[in-house]
Amino acid sequence: MSDKYDVTFSVNGDQRTIHVEARRSLADALREDCGLTGTHLGCEHGVCGACTVLVDDNPVRSCLMFAVQAEGARVRTVEGLAHGDKLHPLQQAFWDHHGLQCGFCTPGFLMLAVGILERDPDISEAALREGLSSNLCRCTGYQNIMKSVLAAATEMRKWA
Ligand code: FES
Ligand code: FES
Repeated sequence: MSDKYDVTFSVNGDQRTIHVEARRSLADALREDCGLTGTHLGCEHGVCGACTVLVDDNPVRSCLMFAVQAEGARVRTVEGLAHGDKLHPLQQAFWDHHGLQCGFCTPGFLMLAVGILERDPDISEAALREGLSSNLCRCTGYQNIMKSVLAAATEMRKWA
């Protein structure tokens, strides 16, 4: 029987304490201990990016991070993007520009894009393409994902 540890962190603004084994990934902790299944698991070894969440505003592959490493951190997942019925501009842009097909990769792309655009709202198209290239879409909808993120970037700049 492995030892378990208390881990306290904020998830989408809510303070949470979970009790987990040291080997539990942040992805499993979010999905199974916090009930936030919007974070998807694809490869589970750092290749696909489906599990991307923001940890202290940095995009992180939550399958590669242990939950205990999130102690004291501010974690944001796809569930925290919308405000009630009002979608985040990135979610709205994915809707408007057909940025998803099966949707499996979408939470990861959304969180990756939020992290990139919050850090650099004026990022060039080339740099954005390079940043988004770290995630994979099995449906190969890359053109519309780019179109969606570019549209959202324009919308988010209006907020700044
Ligand atoms: S599930 Fe984490 S990178 Fe693929
Ligand atoms: S929309 Fe299906 S994996 Fe990207």
